[in-house]
Amino acid sequence: MFDLIKTLAQTFGPSGCEKKVADTITGLLKGKVDEIRTDAMGNLICVKKGTGKKIILAAHMDEIGIIVSYIDDKGFLRFSNVGGLPPLIILGQRVVFENGTVGVIWYEENIDNVKNTKLEKMFIDIGAKSRAEAEKLVKVGDMAVFVGDTIEQNGRIISKALDDRIGCAILVQLALNAPKTDNEIYYVFTTQEEVGLRGAKTAAFGIMPDMALAIDVCDMGDMPGCKPMAVSLGEGPTVKIKDRSVIAHPEVKDALIKAATKKKIPYQLEVMLEGGTDAGSIHITAGGIPSGGVSIPTRFIHDAAEMVDMKDVENAVKLLAEFVKA
Ligand code: CO
Ligand code: ZN
Repeated sequence: MFDLIKTLAQTFGPSGCEKKVADTITGLLKGKVDEIRTDAMGNLICVKKGTGKKIILAAHMDEIGIIVSYIDDKGFLRFSNVGGLPPLIILGQRVVFENGTVGVIWYEENIDNVKNTKLEKMFIDIGAKSRAEAEKLVKVGDMAVFVGDTIEQNGRIISKALDDRIGCAILVQLALNAPKTDNEIYYVFTTQEEVGLRGAKTAAFGIMPDMALAIDVCDMGDMPGCKPMAVSLGEGPTVKIKDRSVIAHPEVKDALIKAATKKKIPYQLEVMLEGGTDAGSIHITAGGIPSGGVSIPTRFIHDAAEMVDMKDVENAVKLLAEFVKA
């Protein structure tokens, strides 16, 4: 499972550029599901056919990144965010473009208190000495993502892009295990979640399932000085109750709790104060779709090094394997 997580986390895929991630997943699931297709938004939809309920399990393929907005005379890049990027935590980070060009993020030291710095006052240095040199490597509109390796240490995984390649890895693992059920399972790998839960919208409309789950990361409350939250790393995947984008449908929430209880899988109840997931757009698609979520407690979300506990990941696979029989 670690190798699968590493492969997916290291694949380049900021919002709108998820093709490489989709190709990687297609390679892993070819022949293991009944149908693999994509739609106009770039969502990858892998179907295990059945005669029962239609169930969507969604995980987003896109990761946060930056987009080049301007290149100055000296070859420094100005940029905007793709997804939520707190200026302070990206300072000094390396980013990499699809063609392998690496840059370092820094800020205008003369005018800014570093604590108050904004993205407009920051730039990327790719080692170019002029605009012409820079333009040989990078164009306006090109996107880059964090550089950060994927390691396992003491039962925990540290990596870039665990949001939400960890969800993708869980779904791939589940599809490979092929849980026995008459239900029709749609493993949906969505696009553009980080910029507004966009891909999930069209995917859900195209499928019109009986219910849906978003598999994503969530915050935790077990770090020094963080906001109170009844979620800790290693104590189980969460059953989503509410986040900023959705209030989980009671039947979906109850089905998850029932599945966890039946299989004695540890779980935690999740009320996340900030952020949303694909369930936020799926549940208000068409006439409404009963939706909920299972999340992996994650530290340092949207940083170049996010952290999850491997036990939570494995228990999420077990929980979903039982849930899809509902
Ligand atoms: Co995110
Ligand atoms: Zn996410």
